[in-house]
Amino acid sequence: MTELTNHRLDTAGFEAERAEILQSWPTGTGVSFAEAVKVQEALPIEKRFPVALAAADAQGMTLLQPRAGVALVREHAALLNGLSPYCDVLPTTIDAYTRHNRYTEAQDGIDRSRAAGTSLLNGFPAVNHGVDGCRRLVDAVSKPVQVRHGTPDARLLAEITLAAGFSSFEGGGISYNIPYAKHVPLERSIRHWQYCDRLVGRFEEEGVSINREPFGPLTGTLVPPFVSHVVAILEGLLALEQGVKCITLGYGQAGNVAQDIAALRSLRRLAHHYFLNAGYGDYKLTTVFHQWMGGFPADEAQATAVICLGALVARQARATKIIVKTPHEASGVPTLEANQAGLKATRQMVNMISDQNRVDSPDIQMEIDVIEAEVHAVMREILRLGRGDIARGAVAAFQTGAMDVPFAPARANLGKLTPVRDNHGAIRLFDVGNVPLPADVLAFHRDKIAERARCERREPSFNMVVDDVRAISASKLVGRPA
Ligand code: 5AD
Repeated sequence: MTELTNHRLDTAGFEAERAEILQSWPTGTGVSFAEAVKVQEALPIEKRFPVALAAADAQGMTLLQPRAGVALVREHAALLNGLSPYCDVLPTTIDAYTRHNRYTEAQDGIDRSRAAGTSLLNGFPAVNHGVDGCRRLVDAVSKPVQVRHGTPDARLLAEITLAAGFSSFEGGGISYNIPYAKHVPLERSIRHWQYCDRLVGRFEEEGVSINREPFGPLTGTLVPPFVSHVVAILEGLLALEQGVKCITLGYGQAGNVAQDIAALRSLRRLAHHYFLNAGYGDYKLTTVFHQWMGGFPADEAQATAVICLGALVARQARATKIIVKTPHEASGVPTLEANQAGLKATRQMVNMISDQNRVDSPDIQMEIDVIEAEVHAVMREILRLGRGDIARGAVAAFQTGAMDVPFAPARANLGKLTPVRDNHGAIRLFDVGNVPLPADVLAFHRDKIAERARCERREPSFNMVVDDVRAISASKLVGRPA
């Protein structure tokens, strides 16, 4: 493999790699790009993800999307059709074996699920079902369907699902490595995702738009907004270079209302800034807000409150889409009914917020200023380390710890940066690690944490961090001492 750079993959190399990928598992041979383009062209308007996003964006609407995936095509279609009346766009959550390219075990899961009469996989094994199985699924539903997963090497998954009429594909070379894998080198996953983005770029060249969505929330645990924004911007830039045109950047609810609103508003602005500066003009940018990705309360009524707070913030900040949680979050894969309950609670809140004024406050503006200063500082260092190339810069920045995702399992991540909540529950930096933030920003974080420490009559310490990680599932935002 040639050295990683942020340049469009050349056609001959891409086609040679593609032939190899499609040979790597029997269902790969069912993919023909010419057929795939025809399948996408034949999709009715109401099943095209980019159309739904553009309409929502134009009308200032917020789309709702659940997560769902079971082992067998018929059961999965029935599940999606049970969710469809309560949401705007559909998911297909992929099982853990497929995410790790373990298709033999996925097949075993399919066979055992058939025998048991119930799903024994934690998602939909799209590669094993192949183009035909996935097409039967897309044919059986009436809304756009997105592939949602967590796969460092999703090349075959992308080939098969896009050939079958899925019109949106989640993930990215950083966001589906650092939080999801332990031993995958970052340069390898970025390179494999350049392939996925190039595939989407090839569809765009044929006049077929497919939505790409980098995974925003990363580890979902006290992630400072600037950290996820930098990853979102990097993956957006990497995708645009490969010819992606329809891009949705994500952010996961952190819990403090002002900080969350500021994060969503700044994400859009910062992304346009970096995309336009890099010379890309021909793209459509939308946003997605993830309801709380950390530990949930086990109690269903309490969980519903967490869901509703997320809905409020997402709608206030005019996210294009919300990924909805369920009251079963603490216990595992939700039932259809629990998933419907999460969607209904979210819809009620979105409807009640929709006609209200845009909330503004000095607090929100201050959070925006801080996030922007942080993102610019880290992006500057990434460009410096990569000598202008963000793919190389990203790999180098994770090596040095200039980029650092809290609580991530990947070896490629330094893991020195440690977040903690301030006295109002906003996420601050207890230990900045090696991230090169400006002195005034660091002083701001220190002051905010000191304010909390005074209030709690204890020194800032790692105990505070641990208390914060547990706080929401224990019904609070800030992890105060008992
Ligand atoms: N069906 C529904 N939700 C799922 N999640 C993971 N797999 C599935 C599935 N097959 C959800 C988890 C968590 C999030 C990361 O994804 O419950 O909320």
